[in-house]
Amino acid sequence: MAEFNKEGLGNVLLVAISVCLVCSIIVSAAAVALRPMQKENQELDQKQNILRAAGMLPADATVGADGRSVDELFAEFEVRAVDLDTGEYVDIDIADFDPIKAAKVPGESRRLTDDEDMATIRRRENVSLVYIRREEGRLDKVVIPVRGYGLWGTLLGYLALEGDVETISGLGFYFHKETPGLGGEVDNGNWKALWNGVAAFDGQGNPAVRLVKVRSPQGSDAAQHEVDALSGATLTTRGVENLVRFWTGDLGFGPYLNNLRTTG
Ligand SMILES: Cc1cc2nc3c(=O)[nH]c(=O)nc-3n(C[C@H](O)[C@H](O)[C@H](O)COP(=O)(O)O)c2cc1C
Repeated sequence: MAEFNKEGLGNVLLVAISVCLVCSIIVSAAAVALRPMQKENQELDQKQNILRAAGMLPADATVGADGRSVDELFAEFEVRAVDLDTGEYVDIDIADFDPIKAAKVPGESRRLTDDEDMATIRRRENVSLVYIRREEGRLDKVVIPVRGYGLWGTLLGYLALEGDVETISGLGFYFHKETPGLGGEVDNGNWKALWNGVAAFDGQGNPAVRLVKVRSPQGSDAAQHEVDALSGATLTTRGVENLVRFWTGDLGFGPYLNNLRTTG
């Protein structure tokens, strides 16, 4: 009887292929099984970012100051889709709508000219999302997604405005590639706190935020629009100023915010 040669080429290949097959099945099954959990975690993360920008969730906290969960706090927001050109609400299914993905689709976005593209995003989606919180029917907060290029890459975040649609409530980034200690100071709580109370627009409704190395005299008209520049990070600083101005301007949420200011 022929002896079974377990070290023969055929058997080695068979074992190797079998192990690969089993492993790939396990990895694929894990990826599929974990996808809903990943999506849930991503959604939770976005909710936290929106709440933090709106000042409703302390930094690093996972529950509100009053002990309410992120889901409970976020439930106070109405999420609407907005046509950025007209500033009007549009009825689309927002469940899986991603404005950043839409910005990559030619039919769902527009290419910006060099003059228009102050945030260096190349394409801007036609429709984006806004997060609105009302208190006894009165507008309390509106949060808009913002993004733009810093030094090393695109910063993604949220800008929250108070119910007057003039005063900034907060700004926070959930993704960026800036250097820790330099441009990465966009995450510094003390710097982020400086945004609270800053006037986003001038008297004509034009974006007016400025990041400055030297502040204007306290109480002056200019001072109300100013935030400290990030020290040693001039390029990130310029990127942040540009992206805030872009998204509060005519090509961003300007038309929508104008509508909201008049209609509440
Ligand atoms: C390793 C390294 C990382 C840097 N990271 C940043 C950064 O994240 N953001 C930034 O604006 N500048 C960063 N800089 C500094 C810029 O290269 C540039 O010098 C600076 O933005 C200009 O600022 P200044 O005009 O205040 O000198 C970095 C420099 C080095 C060497």
